[in-house]
Amino acid sequence: MRRIFYYAARRGLYAFRAWREYLRPVGPFFFKNIRLEDLEISPVREQDIPLLERFLPSKHAGKHRDRLAAQKEGKAEYLIARYGIPVGYVYTIWKAGDAVRLEELPPLPERAVYQEDLYIHPAARGAGVGGLLWKTARRRVQEKGHSAILATVMLTNPAMEATHSRLGYRRVDDKVHEYRAEYTDASGRKRAWSTRVKYFILEF
Ligand SMILES: CC(C)(COP(=O)(O)OP(=O)(O)OC[C@H]1O[C@@H](n2cnc3c(N)ncnc32)[C@H](O)[C@@H]1OP(=O)(O)O)[C@@H](O)C(=O)NCCC(=O)NCCS
Repeated sequence: MRRIFYYAARRGLYAFRAWREYLRPVGPFFFKNIRLEDLEISPVREQDIPLLERFLPSKHAGKHRDRLAAQKEGKAEYLIARYGIPVGYVYTIWKAGDAVRLEELPPLPERAVYQEDLYIHPAARGAGVGGLLWKTARRRVQEKGHSAILATVMLTNPAMEATHSRLGYRRVDDKVHEYRAEYTDASGRKRAWSTRVKYFILEF
């Protein structure tokens, strides 16, 4: 009885968020015993897009497709973790200056990349997927000959500041910045969005 209640409550919540156009992942409520060796991590492919849109939707409707396009142009890499379906992603833009107004920051290493949006399906969290995906992304950055990863932590996500320090990142400066980006909405129009962030950097 209790399970039916939780199921209904959760479905109701998803419907409410979809109605408010604030989408969150749908799909399985939990993954049983995720085995990290069964995860497949590789750059996004065309055939991943419908699955990403279905299981890891974003309020920025065209996000996954925009990132595939940037990857095709050689500007970025969108790493996807798949466990049957996509369960997580992380996005790396090879030239930090393509994503961030570097003139607002103190001088950074020339070959710094910008990495953002490490995200794991809520039902797949706590099993090491996020850690593995991040390590894989870091290794690929190093393999490509880059020497630093610039990252942002949103003011709305303060818990991540300690995580970044623990992982070896340091604050770039002591300011709060406005991070601005674009996404394609459901009707194909470009839209601007922004959020307040702190910048962190990891140097190898
Ligand atoms: C944070 C999140 C990605 C962790 O995913 P997860 O699969 O539950 O993570 P794990 O089971 O591997 O356990 C946490 C690990 O991820 C690492 N991690 C967490 N956030 C990280 C980040 N932003 N960058 C790099 N590594 C991170 C932690 O260091 C930890 O590794 P450790 O156990 O070796 O110390 C996940 O909870 C999530 O998607 N949260 C919502 C989105 C979010 O806040 N993303 C971070 C944006 S800065």
